[in-house]
Amino acid sequence: MSVALVPGSFDPFHNGHLEVVERATRLFDEVVVAALRNPQKSSSLFDLDERRDMMAASMTHLPTVRIVSVSTLLVEVAKDVGATAIVKGLRAVSDFESELQMAQMNRSLSGVETLFIPTSSSHSFIASRLLREVARYGGDVSPFVPPPVYEALRSKFEGAQE
Ligand code: PNS
Repeated sequence: MSVALVPGSFDPFHNGHLEVVERATRLFDEVVVAALRNPQKSSSLFDLDERRDMMAASMTHLPTVRIVSVSTLLVEVAKDVGATAIVKGLRAVSDFESELQMAQMNRSLSGVETLFIPTSSSHSFIASRLLREVARYGGDVSPFVPPPVYEALRSKFEGAQE
């Protein structure tokens, strides 16, 4: 059985992430989506459990997807779930440098391969960092996130505009 591991910060999960997961489900028997800590990102908006719950609510239409949220090394998760490959989306050349470095480090640590799926151009500008910023100041992020994430962002920032 082939298993893809789709890791990310997912703070929050957005339609670009969803596209990558949906496309991975057509290539692998099972897709494990893992919300992890990115130590390079100092603060987070949602905790790991909140992210896992939002992702679960956003992917009820994908029966071969399993969601985990863990605070550990990615290669440990890959080993635990028996991942055939790590799958990551690439939006633009700017993503490539750090993704290549992580793929090479993960392969050196454990031998696991990383496969990249280029996102469609309609999703290439969507970034969790921008969504947090737009939502914080009351902008409409509904076109860019699944409905459960939109609701979570709304309640997080309700009455928070200055
Ligand atoms: O969505 P992101 O922030 O690009 O995802 C990065 C993530 C969470 C996949 C990466 O930071 C990660 O793998 N974190 C877990 C800790 C780890 O294994 N770090 C070494 C990476 S080579």
